Amino acid sequence: MAEHVDDLRLHTDPRYRFDYISKFLNFTQNDITMLNVLAPIIFPSVPVIIDTIYRKLFSYDVTKQYFIVRNQGFENFAATKDSNLALDSAQMLYRKDMLSMYLKRLLTQTEWNDAFLQYMTQVGQMHANKSGAGSINVDYIHINALFGFMEHLLVDKLWNMDGIDDKKKHDMIIAVNKLFWIQNDIFSMQYGTSSSNKSFPVESTKMNPTCCCLLH
Ligand code: HEM
Repeated sequence: MAEHVDDLRLHTDPRYRFDYISKFLNFTQNDITMLNVLAPIIFPSVPVIIDTIYRKLFSYDVTKQYFIVRNQGFENFAATKDSNLALDSAQMLYRKDMLSMYLKRLLTQTEWNDAFLQYMTQVGQMHANKSGAGSINVDYIHINALFGFMEHLLVDKLWNMDGIDDKKKHDMIIAVNKLFWIQNDIFSMQYGTSSSNKSFPVESTKMNPTCCCLLH
């Protein structure tokens, strides 16, 4: 018999939702341990990874714009024009540090307790439009794309590392994969991407049936 899942709670209770997604993906204590084992291995590469992430975000005007708009606390360095905002400016170094700390915390967390879920939820809320004046309101398309890019960077580093046996490497890659899909889900919850949200008619999401045989 199919296990019952409370659809409404999935969209209102972050812990319930996390438990469901974890069970679905089989994200277990073993995955958490694998992430903890990976942490000291990957830490020396974190500055390069973070730098690559920000270069990517600065390579498109549509993503770079968020950093130009958002300059609270950096009035002395405020960049109002595209050309003024450098990747090594004070505000960008600070943001790089924040992302670096976030990534390190994900990897070193030994217990995925409510406080930790709350931390991830808050970061998601801030990117969506749910932290009041603190919100950045980043379009979800960029969040999804960046999670994919970040995962790719981590997997690539890990894959090319010597001295880790195949089984451990495999388990770490699987754990990283789950980690990114879970984070993406926590963020997506803040965007209300669920169809139960009814923010757009289901009909409008269908493509022209004559164009693709997979759609009906
Ligand atoms: C996809 C995964 C992402 C993660 C995990 C992430 C994580 C973070 C973290 C941890 C912070 C610092 C939060 C704090 O101040 O406490 C931050 C800030 C920020 N993020 Fe993201 N971010 C992501 C995607 C993006 C994207 C795609 C954009 C823009 C296109 C973006 C734009 C910003 C901006 C502008 C800030 C600075 C806010 C400020 O200066 O107060 N983020 N992000």
